[in-house]
Amino acid sequence: MPKKVNKISRSLLSWYDREARDLPWRKFGKDKQDPYKVWISEIMLQQTTVSAVIPYFNAFIKKWPTNKELSQASLSEIQRAWSGLGYYSRARNLFECSIIINSRFNNNFPESEKELLKLPGIGAYTAAAISAIAFNNRSVVIDGNIKRVISRLFLLKKPIKSNYNEIWRFTNLVTPDIRVGDFVQALMDLGSQICKPSKPLCESCPLILECDARKNNVELLIPKRIKKNTKPIRNGSAFVIKNNDCVLIYKRKTKGLLAGLDSFPTFGWDNQNDERLNFLKSLNTNKKISNIKHEFTHFTLNMEIYIIDESIAKNLNINIPDDFRWIPIESIENLSFSSLMMKIYKSYLNG
Ligand code: ADE
Repeated sequence: MPKKVNKISRSLLSWYDREARDLPWRKFGKDKQDPYKVWISEIMLQQTTVSAVIPYFNAFIKKWPTNKELSQASLSEIQRAWSGLGYYSRARNLFECSIIINSRFNNNFPESEKELLKLPGIGAYTAAAISAIAFNNRSVVIDGNIKRVISRLFLLKKPIKSNYNEIWRFTNLVTPDIRVGDFVQALMDLGSQICKPSKPLCESCPLILECDARKNNVELLIPKRIKKNTKPIRNGSAFVIKNNDCVLIYKRKTKGLLAGLDSFPTFGWDNQNDERLNFLKSLNTNKKISNIKHEFTHFTLNMEIYIIDESIAKNLNINIPDDFRWIPIESIENLSFSSLMMKIYKSYLNG
């Protein structure tokens, strides 16, 4: 086994030296990694693809090149820069973390997994990834791609979901003592570029001779897949309430789905029971413009979109809560909108 293990890390690192993706948060060769950039990238890459992250990462770093600058930003500016990236609690945690790194750590990130884990928004995976990639500590990093690669290399037959301990043991076994950050990112690249879920490119794989799944011709059966439950469907309504060239916008509650983001008034879909939206119940909802569908990780949303003219709203004598604002339509794009709100806005423009 030790021979195989050494061969795996050596072959993988020399493959990485030739084939690594040139991603904007990576430094190659003797250049030092920037822990701030590694941190921002790892938070953005939680549940988000590399291709979706790259433009956000570049814009973010341009605006806030260091932690010090980020810690002096406002939450709403950060939320705006995050708009469309999803999982919005990440933006809030990022801001809180940045303030702590500034005030308690003089803008130097702690290096150990244990210390990183104490920071907002940094869980076990992210602490290990930052510690390995930014500081070359020998952390065991396991993401979805790495789980698949390790399962195939060692022919681990259990479904990924119920096999964390075994995957951890084998990942620990193959993690070298040097170039840990490169090794971890090489595993990630191998998983996304070569060792793909349903069409692995085994002929191009630097580990083809080491791969037990390949040797047994079962690479397509490993890891074992379990059928996903179909997602539940939720239904809701969104209202574009107009007043001259303005529309009514409010800030969502600071807890729960799309927390703290700007929003058109909506109801029926998010379990928020926000009393500020009770006035919607008395609106005349005859003027439906469209239906949109939006995927969240844990449910599918069917949203009906209604336009309410000011004249209708006035006649109904509704009380609009104080903390709602009339926003000129041309400034909508400056708001901290989620992708769902952007979709509603686009549907309104096209409707
Ligand atoms: N996914 C999470 N972290 C990553 C990284 N550093 N490079 C590529 N994909 C990743």
